[in-house]
Amino acid sequence: EWWAEERKLQTPEAKAIEEAAQILRTSDIPVAFPTETVYGLGADATRSASVQGIYRAKQRPSDNPLIVHVDSIEMLNRLLNPSPQIPSSPSSTKTPRISIPEIYEPLLDRFWPGPLTIILPNPSGSDLAPEVTSNLTTFGVRMPSSALARLLIHATDRPLAAPSANASTKPSPTTAQHVYHDLHGRIELILDGGASGVGVESTVVDGLCHPPAILRPGGIGIEELRTCPGWESVTVAYNDGTLDVKEIPRAPGMKYRHYSPKARVVLFEADSHLNGVVRHVQKDLQDSAIGAHNIGIIRTRNWPQGLGLAASDVLASTMRPVSSAIENLHSFPVPVQETGSPSSRTKIAYDYHLGSDTGAIAHGLFAALRALDELDVDVIYVEGISDRDGDLAAAVMNRLRKAAGAEMKV
Ligand code: TXA
Ligand code: MG
Repeated sequence: EWWAEERKLQTPEAKAIEEAAQILRTSDIPVAFPTETVYGLGADATRSASVQGIYRAKQRPSDNPLIVHVDSIEMLNRLLNPSPQIPSSPSSTKTPRISIPEIYEPLLDRFWPGPLTIILPNPSGSDLAPEVTSNLTTFGVRMPSSALARLLIHATDRPLAAPSANASTKPSPTTAQHVYHDLHGRIELILDGGASGVGVESTVVDGLCHPPAILRPGGIGIEELRTCPGWESVTVAYNDGTLDVKEIPRAPGMKYRHYSPKARVVLFEADSHLNGVVRHVQKDLQDSAIGAHNIGIIRTRNWPQGLGLAASDVLASTMRPVSSAIENLHSFPVPVQETGSPSSRTKIAYDYHLGSDTGAIAHGLFAALRALDELDVDVIYVEGISDRDGDLAAAVMNRLRKAAGAEMKV
């Protein structure tokens, strides 16, 4: 097998994966690794002490179950059919093998490996540590398409429990630097595989109920799911305030504050008038009554240069790039006249243009929220996109509504 060859070659990549696998097998400190969705914080899903290390490092509430990551269908089948503790006597009747429920077959054919998590019954005598499932009778599992992630699982030779590798409540990490920022001092190793491609987490689906349900929107969308046999009438079982779902969220993680930067986030709904949005932000910038507000803007449309402020209001009429490492993030200072005082002070506007392509927005969103947080802005105005623009757009808006303290339409 090529991976065996690779290991023999002892390339730096192979060495890093071996080192990470060694920590995962022997230590209780989790290891961060890239996946195609977001970075995960991994632990051996079969050892309680190891899984507890995840909750400790993230400070995650213990009633929020983790997703199990496998490298192959074989590994999943082994999980569904744990070897009995006491070997059965040769005379005893053979217990039937448990297989993956048929309803999932078209999904796995089409979307695995990839950003789709399925819910399965946890078998009796399960090898999974009880902390993985938070004592639910089911577990969530996915096979990531990231080669690095699968190689790591393969080298560890264990299923890996892995939530997103952010500190609890913060935006999910899409680069190794994000993980470092949140978790340095708490973990020993981050495998750096560059920026995650998708940028939002996996879609979580439950095919054990009738009709099947989407518990969390993500990388695979509802329309795509509906094209699979048995999934035509899949229902939405998450609530982000826009849907008529009265029940409590069925994915326990969906009830928590999440994706939140330090700054207050104000979300403009997609059909807001561009003029109204720009005027709202201008007013905030020029209002001397509002504290020390430096503001961040994450936009998806073309706004007038310099926010359309009169040239005299903008110290430098052109915006400056904040860092060559972050594209499309610019700053410009705006002097604010104090009422009844000749003195003026300066507020800074940071402008982040994500572009209008949904894939690019999903890919860059968490990084944008994090970059603005690093700049210590007090408020971040975000221009939303339409849920009707497709599945990834719905996943983006789901994350934004959770991050936002206020939503408005202007
Ligand atoms: O893309 C992803 O899924 C990333 C990467 C690292 O793979 N992982 C991730 O994990 O987002 P986490 O722990 O942040 O989110 C897991 C979600 C939560 O909403 C949790 O409640 C739900 O999956 N979940 C896990 N097991 C479940 C179960 N047995 N029943 C219902 N929901 C479950
Ligand atoms: Mg998470």
